[in-house]
Order: sequence, then structure tokens, then C-alpha cells
Amino acid sequence: MKITVIGTGYVGLVTGTCLAEMGNHVMCLDVDEKKIRILEEGGIPIHEPGLLEMVTRNRAAGRLQFTTDVIKAVNHGTLQFIGVGTPPDEDGSADLQYVLAAARNVGKHMTDYKVVINKSTVPVGTGDKVRAAVAEELKKRGSDVEFAVVSNPEFLKEGAAVEDFMRPDRIVVGGDDERAILLMRALYSPFIRNHDRLLVMDIKSAEFTKYAANSMLATRISFMNELALLSEKVGADIELVRKGIGSDPRIGYHFLYAGAGYGGSCFPKDVKALVKTASQNGVELQVLQAVEAANERQKHVLVDKVVARFGEDLTGRTFAIWGLAFKPNTDDMREAPSRVIIGELVRRGAKLRAYDPVAMPEAQRVMSDVKNLTFVDGQAQALEGADALVVITEWKEFKSPDFDLIKSSLKQPVVIDGRNLYDPQLMSTLGIEYTGIGRSA
Ligand code: NAD
Ligand code: UGA
Repeated sequence: MKITVIGTGYVGLVTGTCLAEMGNHVMCLDVDEKKIRILEEGGIPIHEPGLLEMVTRNRAAGRLQFTTDVIKAVNHGTLQFIGVGTPPDEDGSADLQYVLAAARNVGKHMTDYKVVINKSTVPVGTGDKVRAAVAEELKKRGSDVEFAVVSNPEFLKEGAAVEDFMRPDRIVVGGDDERAILLMRALYSPFIRNHDRLLVMDIKSAEFTKYAANSMLATRISFMNELALLSEKVGADIELVRKGIGSDPRIGYHFLYAGAGYGGSCFPKDVKALVKTASQNGVELQVLQAVEAANERQKHVLVDKVVARFGEDLTGRTFAIWGLAFKPNTDDMREAPSRVIIGELVRRGAKLRAYDPVAMPEAQRVMSDVKNLTFVDGQAQALEGADALVVITEWKEFKSPDFDLIKSSLKQPVVIDGRNLYDPQLMSTLGIEYTGIGRSA
């Protein structure tokens, strides 16, 4: 099939590339000339495991193209995926200006039947707005070309995006145009050969499903983070509690890890947007409001632990920071808890030596104005002469570190672990003063 993907960010680029991998001819459009230049020169503008190889392979096969030329891109695909950003507006609601601009572009330039597919995360009712935007542009030029609007929210996780797209748990398709649904079924059938998990529903339910999924996952995390706070007080170990409850299939093991708070470009903004949609409709989502408040508090928990050990005034103290990205296997720094933690430590007078295996260039870009923050080339360099180690992101390379080196490099052997990577008993045996999240020892 011929496909256009509008927006070549985490979602658009992965979608376009994975669809090309199945034999489709895909053209990816972006307004960001720098991104398109990187892609045309054989690179990729983001870090995503397995993506570069797949982009390279499909470009070489002539199935994947990149452009900033709107007319060329709109003409290319029968299926027009919109995968542009939907960042939070000042009041927390999703800003639809990029989605609607993309829809208008399709309406302006289409000359034959198109299916306009919303892959961006958009509030319930956006399908109608997209339909109106396309129709208005067609009307302006007196065109009666037919089109359909479909909602096809994306559930991939950064750091596992290619894997998630190639082997989806389910594919949600919202729409009522039979021809469009048939095309969507054909498009996705190679991805779900072993199971039939293409769920067709109305557009509004599809749009809502996306927010419901992210809100449910964020709720689990905030709930576990709160239980971790209590675990510490009562002398229980949240890691044992996690296993104890996760073994119940009604609960399950996924997304039960207490930590330094959830971040990223999605949970924080989607939770806010759903709360906003609810209040616009006269409904107060009390649980979700609490989820957000608990997460804001959680981002300060590591700082509280540093303060409890070293005092409010951190002047003259240096801390090693391991991990900056909002999660492992990504360079994404959007809403990363590290940004709050670093800001708070520096505000209290601390000097920081930070290392991240992948996200350092992006971290340098977004925290260029933070004083007393030095980016170093490795775990060992971060430790040199520091008072304590603070672990924020659970990269694999931090999981079995050289504990002797940690002890000998730090002024005092203090490890404050925001991801519960180490065994408190082992740390005690090694003579390391250790604090995790919700651990009893
Ligand atoms: P992103 O910011 O990485 O990428 C968006 C891209 O769209 C940018 O490159 C931007 O230049 C481009 N763009 C903006 N307006 C455009 C236009 N009119 N024409 C062409 N290109 C345009 O965003 P993302 O992380 O890929 O997220 C995109 C959407 O998908 C959001 O709604 C997000 O909530 C949702 N989503 C994201 C993820 C994720 O893991 N990042 C997962 C599922 C869903
Ligand atoms: C999340 C969802 O998992 C995807 O299904 C969804 O498509 C995506 O948002 C989106 O809508 O964009 P993502 O933000 O990439 O994906 O990453 P997650 O793995 O969900 O992690 C989000 C945050 O939660 C991270 O900060 C992570 O550290 C934190 N987290 C996750 C925990 O604190 N504990 C956990 O048990 C799991």
C-alpha cells in the first residue's frame, strides 16, 4: 500500500519504518528540515533500539522516503497517518494545532480518496475536528473528493518501540467507513498473524481507549510509589510486596515498579489532558488527580533522601548522578524526573557530576542553563570525589556495577537508588550505606 506519515518523531518514524518493513511504500513528511536532512543522510534523529538498521534497510529497498514537501507527501499515500505532537496547552488540555494543521494540509492538496488516520494521542472528539478541517479545505477549492477519518492510537513504548510496533498486543481502529476499515485490516494483518487482536470501534471510544490505557498505567505506578512510602515507614520491603501482589493474575507484574516518579512525553501530559477533558464535561476524576499529585511528590523523594542524609544546605557537597533519560534505552528527556531532582539538588548548593549512556547530548541541550552540573564520560568519572551516588535511571550497565570502585571513589560510601537496582543486604555486607525506594533494610 502507499502510505504517508505526517510527523517523523518517535511515533511517526517508527510507524513509517515498520510499515515499510512489511512491504508498504512509505513517505514520511516533517516540517523540521533538520530531522529530514539527518534521515536523508542515512541517520536517525532519535535513539531507538533497532530503528536505524530498519530505516537503512527500507531506504535501500526504495520503500521508505523522507520529505519536507507537503504536496508530494499528500499525493503519495492513500493512507495519511497523522503522528505529530499533541503537547499540553497551558491549561493541561492537548494542543491540537499540529494535528489540525496536518489535516488541513491533506484537505488542501488531496486529489483522490484518502483515509486520514489519527495516530497522535488526541482527546475524544478530535476525529470530528479533523473531518471538519479536511472538509473545509476541500470546500474552499470546490472539490468533492471523498475521504474517511480513522482513529488508530499508538501504544508503543519508547526504548522498545520497534518491537512493540512489530508485535502489538492489540491494534485499535476507530471508524465507520467500511472501505477505510477494510484498508486498515489489510494493512495490519501481517502484524497480527498469530492472533486476531484488531479491535474495531467507534472513533470516540478509540480516542478514549488511548487515554484510559495511559491513565491506568500511570495509576498503577503512583499507587506503588505511595505504597513504597508507607513500606519504609512500617519496615516492609516494596520489592517483596511487588512480587507478592504481581503473582495474582488479576494484578500482574507489569508496571508495578516503585521509583523516582514517572516521566516521559506521554503519561504526564495524557493524565493532565484526561483530567481536563473530564472537568470540561462536568466530571471530576478524583483518582487521576491524585495520581498526578502523587507523581509530583514522588519526583522529590530522592532529594528528600539526600537532604535527610546530608542536610538542607548542600553547599560544598558533590553528588554523582547515574542516569538522566526518563527511562532506559531512550535519549528522551521530556518530563524526565532527573530534571526536577537535579534542579532541586543544585538549588540547595550541590555540585553534580552526571552520566547517562545515551541521553547526555539531549540532557546538555535541555539543562544548558543549570549551574554546577558537569556532564562526564562514564560511571567511574561521575563517582570521582563525590559525597554520594544517586541513581535515577535503571540503565542495564548500572545494574551490576563495580561496588569496590563505588566505595573507593566516593568520599563516603553512600548510594541513594531511585530504581531499587541493588540488594540492601548485599550493600550492607559490602559496607555501603544504601537507601532505595520503599526498602526496609
Ligand atoms: P515528536 O515530538 O517526537 O514528533 C512530532 C513530529 O511532528 C516532529 O518531528 C514535528 O516536527 C512534526 N510536525 C509537527 N507539525 C507537523 C506538520 N504540520 N507536518 C509535518 N510534521 C509536523 O512526538 P512523538 O513523541 O512522536 O508523539 C507524537 C504523538 O504520538 C503524540 O500525540 C504522542 O502523545 C503520541 N504517542 C507518543 C508515543 C511515544 O512514545 N513518544 C507513544 C504513543 C503515542
Ligand atoms: C508509555 C506507555 O507505556 C505506552 O504504551 C504509550 O504508547 C506511551 O506511553 C505513549 O502514549 O506515548 P513510555 O512513556 O514510552 O510509554 O514509557 P513507559 O515504559 O511507559 O514508562 C513511562 C514512565 O513510567 C517512565 O518514567 C518509567 O520510568 C515509569 N515507570 C514505568 C515506573 O516508574 N514504574 C514502572 O513500573 C513502569
